[in-house]
Amino acid sequence: MGRVFVSRRVQGGALDTLVAAGHEVDLWPGELPPPPEALVEHLAGADAAMTMVTDRFSSALLATSARLKVIANVAVGYDNVDPAEASAAGIWLTNTPGVLAETTADHTFALLMAAARHVVASDRDTRAGGWKTWSPTAFLGSDVHHATLGIVGLGEIGQAVARRAAGFAMKVLYTGRMPHPDRERALNAEWRTLPELLAQSDFVSLHASLNPESRHLIGAPQLAAMKRSAILVNTSRGQVVDQDALVAALQGGWIGGAALDVTDPEPLPLIHPLYASPNVIITPHIASASFDTRSRMAAMAAANVVAVLEGREPPNPVNRPPRPRA
Ligand code: GLV
Repeated sequence: MGRVFVSRRVQGGALDTLVAAGHEVDLWPGELPPPPEALVEHLAGADAAMTMVTDRFSSALLATSARLKVIANVAVGYDNVDPAEASAAGIWLTNTPGVLAETTADHTFALLMAAARHVVASDRDTRAGGWKTWSPTAFLGSDVHHATLGIVGLGEIGQAVARRAAGFAMKVLYTGRMPHPDRERALNAEWRTLPELLAQSDFVSLHASLNPESRHLIGAPQLAAMKRSAILVNTSRGQVVDQDALVAALQGGWIGGAALDVTDPEPLPLIHPLYASPNVIITPHIASASFDTRSRMAAMAAANVVAVLEGREPPNPVNRPPRPRA
């Protein structure tokens, strides 16, 4: 039997799974993430942790979490933990691949379409009494159908976005660390270099995981290379975009708009200039937030915890500690 720290209330029956497997659950009761001191305190007595992307594991925290055998992130991304540091400490790090791609792609498309057709701005205007008549010129937007979509990162989520684009007869371009001829054929997508993709796309959708190479992948030169009408959609990580450059691009009219589910930092302070741009939509990092998907993500994290605490390899490892803690 182990003690499992769970850093937020999760959807579905994941905690019951932990209890049924004989473990004791230490559930953080707050709506907000545990502050760093609370993480130190709770993890010091924990054999396993079910954590969120908001829980940052510094090397100091890994060192003080002396009993910890597994960090099971309820997320596909794991930029809150350094896998090499976790390995060196003998701690498994796991994530939730596969289950959230379709749901995240749904939200990506919702953002893309909302930005293209001013869904949020026109709703706001309607509520404020702005709907005086049918207007031949109000809220003109960009067509999504037959437009060119540039996908940056043709992984699971990028591919799910490309499948949706086919239904809108979009031309799909993609870029990434390397071409994927098999995916390209299946999705009718065409490889471009990043500068080519930026110059040719009406919509640019980011699906890169955050790492040192992808940090600020989209900065001032990249934004300047986009079409003046183009819309940038980001459901990956806020730090993939140089946000100061994005503000300059929106204010300067270098691009048409942006639809962001992720920002840098999160939450984005209310005084941030991005909120002042009329052509920006911001959602609070909810791309995977459907009942079913969040429930499946929590269940996967619980299964990873149970496996490690029973001395087995977790089903979804991100790292492979050479000497896992016994
Ligand atoms: C959420 O952002 C995730 O990485 O799953």
